[in-house]
Amino acid sequence: MEELTPGAIRRDLGTEFLGQHVVCYGRVDSTNALSKKLAEEGAPEGTLVVAEEQTAGRGRRGRRWLAPAGSSLLVSFILRPSLAPEGLPLLLMASALAVARAIEESTGLAVHFKWPNDIMLRDKKAGGILIETGLSGQDVDYAVIGIGLNVNLDVARIPEIATTATSISAALGEKTSRLRILRSLLKSMEKEYLLLQRGHSPVARWAARLSQLGQQVQVSTPWGRETGQLEGVDADGTLILRRSDGTEARITVGDVT
Ligand code: BTN
Repeated sequence: MEELTPGAIRRDLGTEFLGQHVVCYGRVDSTNALSKKLAEEGAPEGTLVVAEEQTAGRGRRGRRWLAPAGSSLLVSFILRPSLAPEGLPLLLMASALAVARAIEESTGLAVHFKWPNDIMLRDKKAGGILIETGLSGQDVDYAVIGIGLNVNLDVARIPEIATTATSISAALGEKTSRLRILRSLLKSMEKEYLLLQRGHSPVARWAARLSQLGQQVQVSTPWGRETGQLEGVDADGTLILRRSDGTEARITVGDVT
């Protein structure tokens, strides 16, 4: 198994701050939980936390994130963006674009997105992003960008995700280097983050990779189910569906199926 070490990750990386401070663990509860703690203790912007295995990996909406030891990229970055909480969907989109570019550059595979945070390879989920924040008054004090990417994972080993998920190795037909993808991700993530901080919206580029555009979809939300044609997202990242009666549904939280 290829080892992810701070030395190998940082060697000639060339980023300004992202990944310049790296903490690697064999096993942690969750890289997001640990990064939140480090952020609260004052860790510098760009700190990267990497784990081979998580005992309590967190997914969206209280779900677990499952990955056998050494099979995946399980990483979190600490950022300190000048952003109001309403801007967080844009940070999520910028992060997804960075993941897509890293996968495409390292493997040549085509990457699509499923709203709001799924990284898709051939219509199956290969990764997800979970942003957790600490607030200072009305503003974001820090944001932890947690990314789980199924790199060399045999999804058949995990019955809960076997039919809906895939991995980069499954799509490629061979195992691939987690280190190469991670180093590419650090560079693309820094670029996307700096663009966002300078006021460039990632929405159009994100929406261009949206799968299911124009298709009939169902979205389960905390308030019930919506059905309609997927029209896209607005400038804030809100999902827009056209219901069969012609009215518009605007959805900020939910899962598209
Ligand atoms: C999703 O539900 O799709 C988001 C999953 C995010 C999982 C990653 S794995 C690394 C980081 N640490 C966590 O506990 N969760 C994120």
